[in-house]
Formats: sequence, structure tokens, C-alpha cells
Amino acid sequence: MGLIELKNVDKGYSSGAEFTAVLTGLEMEAHKGEMVIIMGPSGSGKTTLMNILGGIDVPDAGSVVVDGEDIAGYDPVGLTAFRRNKVGFIFQFYNLVPTLTALENVELSLETISKDGKANSGRAEKYLRMVGLEDKMHNFPQELSGGQQQRVAIARALAKEPRIILADEPTGNLDGKREEAIMDLMKELQKEFGTTFFIVTHNSKLKKYADRVYELGNGVLTLNGA
Ligand SMILES: Nc1ncnc2c1ncn2[C@@H]1O[C@H](COP(=O)(O)OP(=O)(O)OP(=O)(O)O)[C@@H](O)[C@H]1O
Ligand SMILES: [Mg+2]
Repeated sequence: MGLIELKNVDKGYSSGAEFTAVLTGLEMEAHKGEMVIIMGPSGSGKTTLMNILGGIDVPDAGSVVVDGEDIAGYDPVGLTAFRRNKVGFIFQFYNLVPTLTALENVELSLETISKDGKANSGRAEKYLRMVGLEDKMHNFPQELSGGQQQRVAIARALAKEPRIILADEPTGNLDGKREEAIMDLMKELQKEFGTTFFIVTHNSKLKKYADRVYELGNGVLTLNGA
């Protein structure tokens, strides 16, 4: 059985009297421990799909089964618990807290999953080192380059060691060498923890890392031979 199964998912947005359909009868399947890459033009609904997979948003219709839970019908409380326990997000625009240092940003995500609510500095430092930010742990986001901020966002998601990682254009601000290092790191974690990865990208160079490649267009996903 697939770990993740989307069936007949519809999602659109209303503004005023106008309704824009984004996902229309979308179907998807992925197995535990796979690295899935989703490609598609700007505006095709990639971020919308990631938000639904990660319980940030709910579809208008259809079922979204993730790790045995059908989250399509969850209320906000259920969605919050789902996100906290199972999902790590690497957001397209990072979403770092500007008043916290790199280290504190990563610690914050660990506090939400620790039993005693305490930060785990050792683990936060370990992951910042893994993304090559050992020299920047005590800097604030505004003191970091775009690529460095992106790597803080990556460390924050990975440090949770969640079952599922959702990454929206995770290497968009990195040079080729860094991109390779980050993708190799994600492949290592996939092997070590059996993490399932969903990675949105415009960069076809990333296809070689994937176990499954989907193209998003016209509201639906098509499996790509890659
Ligand atoms: N909150 C919202 N309210 C209204 N329309 C929205 C909202 N979020 C997204 N949209 C619209 O839905 C469509 C899909 O947006 P989405 O952000 O999912 O695209 P994307 O594939 O991630 O694009 P990009 O590659 O540029 O990040 C776009 O037409 C966008 O304008
Ligand atoms: Mg997007």
C-alpha cells in the first residue's frame, strides 16, 4: 500500500466572485521512503499541492491519505498535530523567524517535538554543520545571504528527522556545488531514516536523484519516465 495516496483532489481559490481552479481531479501515489520530484511551470499549483500534502491547507474535494491518516477532513487541531509529528517543511520563501538566530530557528522546530518542550542545541548544531553553516549559527537571517538562509530552512526541516519532508524549490538559491551537497545529504537521510521526500523544482538536473518524477500541469499530475 502506498504511504501517500491522493484521490480525485480538487483545490481552487476564490477572490471576490471569481474562482480559479488549480488542482482538478488530481491523483498521486508514493511509497514510504521514496524521493518524489514534482516539476511544473510557475502557477501550475506546486505550492498548493505541497500545502495539501503537509496539512497546511485542505482540498475542496477528494482524499489525502498520508502515512495511514486521511487528512483531507481534519480540523485545524488535527492538522497541527499531524504537521508537528510527521512533517518537515522547506518553504519556497524559507519562513525563518527574523528575530531568532540560525541556531534558534532550528531549535524552535525541535522544541515543538521534544517531550519536555526544551530546545535540543546539540541536534540543531549538528544539522547546521551538515548544511555547511558552522560559522553562521549565531547570525540572524538578515545577516545571511539568500543561499545561507535557504540552508537554515533546510537544516530546520531535516533536524526534526520527520517521516516526510516537503521541499519547495529547496536548492533554488544554491550554486551547483552546494546543490549537489544538499541533494546528497537528503539521499543519505532517505537511506538512514527511510524518510519520504517530496521535492518541487524547476531544475531538471535534480531528476537524477528521484525515485519517481511527476509533472504538474492543467491541474493534474502525470508520471514522467525520467
Ligand atoms: N491564497 C491564494 N489565493 C488566491 N489564489 C491563489 C492563492 N494561492 C495560490 N493562488 C493561485 O493558484 C495558482 C497556483 O499557485 P501556486 O503557488 O500553487 O503555484 P506554483 O506552481 O507553486 O508556482 P511557482 O512556481 O511560481 O511557485 C496561481 O494561479 C496562484 O495565483
Ligand atoms: Mg510555488
